[in-house]
Amino acid sequence: MEPTEALDVAALAAEQVRGTTSPNPPVGAVILDAAGQLVGTGATRPPGGAHAEIVALAEAGGRARGGTAVVTLEPCNHTGRTGPCTRALLEAGIVRVVYAVPDPFPQAAGGGRWLSDRGVDTLCLGIEVPALRPWLRATRLGRPHVTWKFAATMDGYSAAGDGGSRWITGPRARAAVHLDRSRRDAIMIGSGTALQDDPALTARAEDGLYAHQPRRVVIGGRTIPADSQLGRLGFEQYAGIDQALAALWDSGARDVLVEGGPTLAAAFLDAGLVDAVQAYLAPALLGTGRPVLDGDTAGTGVTTMADIRRFDTRDVQRLGPDVLIEMVRPTNEQQDEGM
Ligand SMILES: NC(=O)c1ccc[n+]([C@@H]2O[C@H](COP(=O)([O-])OP(=O)(O)OC[C@H]3O[C@@H](n4cnc5c(N)ncnc54)[C@H](OP(=O)(O)O)[C@@H]3O)[C@@H](O)[C@H]2O)c1
Repeated sequence: MEPTEALDVAALAAEQVRGTTSPNPPVGAVILDAAGQLVGTGATRPPGGAHAEIVALAEAGGRARGGTAVVTLEPCNHTGRTGPCTRALLEAGIVRVVYAVPDPFPQAAGGGRWLSDRGVDTLCLGIEVPALRPWLRATRLGRPHVTWKFAATMDGYSAAGDGGSRWITGPRARAAVHLDRSRRDAIMIGSGTALQDDPALTARAEDGLYAHQPRRVVIGGRTIPADSQLGRLGFEQYAGIDQALAALWDSGARDVLVEGGPTLAAAFLDAGLVDAVQAYLAPALLGTGRPVLDGDTAGTGVTTMADIRRFDTRDVQRLGPDVLIEMVRPTNEQQDEGM
């Protein structure tokens, strides 16, 4: 197996543990034996547990000797709650290490250099695998990565005039939302949505709850009734966005999903805090109702094309009758932020 093929396997392993590793990154690793056969796969265990490389090495055992490690992030070079992965790779007899991106965290960085100084053939591919992007960006910005998700009609409404929004999209789109929730650290809504929709904000599969449940967060000052779904399940409430993001960051969250509604979404956008957007679009029209963004209240309203907010399209998927467009902040804006 070629290292780039092995990186796909490692990226998939990383995807499976998203949401369970913060504040650590969700990393995937693959060990190829000396003949290039896959002999071990691993992903980051929850905090305090083994890193991906250690899990993959354990599976490979003695077959790792003379082999290649392919990892979605530069192997760490520091002793935190676990020992440095660099040393474990060297001791296992790995002769080649291929990693996707350098570690941006100064204490953990330098693993590639440490290994090459000891005769290991080391290569950085410079590819960000999807599972790692939120963590990488959060680490650079010092706040959780924010994805704003909304469901809308083709004419841009996220609720009807009477406030109802169930359901704009079909079962496949809603199943995709639940899977996505199961891979996030937290879901945020405004008190308006909490009061109007009485959501549970859980991540549900057909046969019950996903093993990982994101933290449920409400922003706003209004009281959420104790007998609401959130009241019964337990939730966190913060007066404003900054307080919420700071508290989430301090308690380890790195990847959060903002599920609206239009007032909160506009406030996030206005504050320059939307890193990625998931637009679930239904082939339906309302003609009137709540637009996806309440630009008037938050000041987001743009009056001239010169101020239009553009994003880069990262992916487009068809989900039954609906379409999911995933967008990210344009590369030039990320560069302005020193990324
Ligand atoms: N289709 C979709 O994807 C979707 C998703 C979510 C909601 N919705 C629909 O949206 C409607 C609710 O809209 P909405 O605009 O009332 O709900 P919202 O945005 O969820 O909540 C608005 C409230 O959030 C708090 N808030 C917002 N920005 C804030 C900021 N910068 N700082 C502090 N607090 C802030 C305020 O709470 P306080 O007033 O309590 O301080 C504000 O009144 C419902 O009809 C719902 O069905 C649709």
